[in-house]
Amino acid sequence: MTRPIRIAVTGPCGSIGYSILFRIAAGDLFGREQPIELRLLARDSPESQAKLKGTMMELSDCAFPLLAEMKGFTDEKQLFDGAECVFLIGAQPRKDGMDRSDLLRANGEIFRRQGRALNEMASRDVRVLVVGNPCNTNAYIAMRNAPDLKRECFSAMMRLDQNRAMARVAEKINAPVSGVEQVFVWGNHSNTMYPDIRFLRYKGHRLADQFDPQWQEEFIKNVATRGGQIIKARGASSAASAASAAIDHMRDWILGSEGMCTMAVPSDGSYGIPEGLVFGFPCLCPGEARYQIINNLPMTPDVRQRLAVTRDELLAEANAVADLLA
Ligand code: LMR
Repeated sequence: MTRPIRIAVTGPCGSIGYSILFRIAAGDLFGREQPIELRLLARDSPESQAKLKGTMMELSDCAFPLLAEMKGFTDEKQLFDGAECVFLIGAQPRKDGMDRSDLLRANGEIFRRQGRALNEMASRDVRVLVVGNPCNTNAYIAMRNAPDLKRECFSAMMRLDQNRAMARVAEKINAPVSGVEQVFVWGNHSNTMYPDIRFLRYKGHRLADQFDPQWQEEFIKNVATRGGQIIKARGASSAASAASAAIDHMRDWILGSEGMCTMAVPSDGSYGIPEGLVFGFPCLCPGEARYQIINNLPMTPDVRQRLAVTRDELLAEANAVADLLA
């Protein structure tokens, strides 16, 4: 039988965690042939442990054939021991009226600790996806505190923004989202992100020129503020859509993507983004847990300016947490 893949998840009982676990265990991440082991983190409090116990009881009651083993932990080093695939979801969520920058300090300390624990305990080929916000900078903090792991082990989630952009395009052209191709999002998972539809295709045909500039501006703003719109509408931040995008991101990274996909990854200096900054780029994933930044797309002064805005925001965030970086 195939060896199980060891997956660690923080925040398993939050709403994103609760949503993602059952999909992972059902085979939505690595397919229906690949067994998995789940390692789940609970806080060191009776409430948190009771919640994790209940969640594990439910996972067990699903009788998932692929779930070879599952364990709960309160210690992050034990959690990450030998982990090959890690979802860092647990973080204080943004509430209505709160800006991502308010979350920076609150969550930064958690990601410093987790970066150190990953550095010490995880598989040297671990793949880490940070979902907890502000995810780019949290991933940056974790990466900087894990000097013995390759930078390429770390990423942050902007696939949700890509999925949102694809869905808005599909609504606009009144066609199924499955035909929408070559949409991606640059920069920070915040209001400064830049969803780029210059290369948009529908089932292989170029479409980008068909949208008027005013619609494009509204589209950019709409995608960038969609998280806030969801919080207002449901009184809580996106959960199932975030979980779904996290699965899309990790699956494409490890097994390979069909075409372009958005990943926030440490910059290799492409497009003048400072090296190491965790920035949303258009990527291709050839499989075997690798990705390549697509580094030769044409730039215009307008696009350069948009990238500079989101880059500067990330630089300011990095500056604000300078004391948490190793
Ligand atoms: C989202 O984009 O829905 C989440 O990152 C929640 C948020 O804070 O916007």
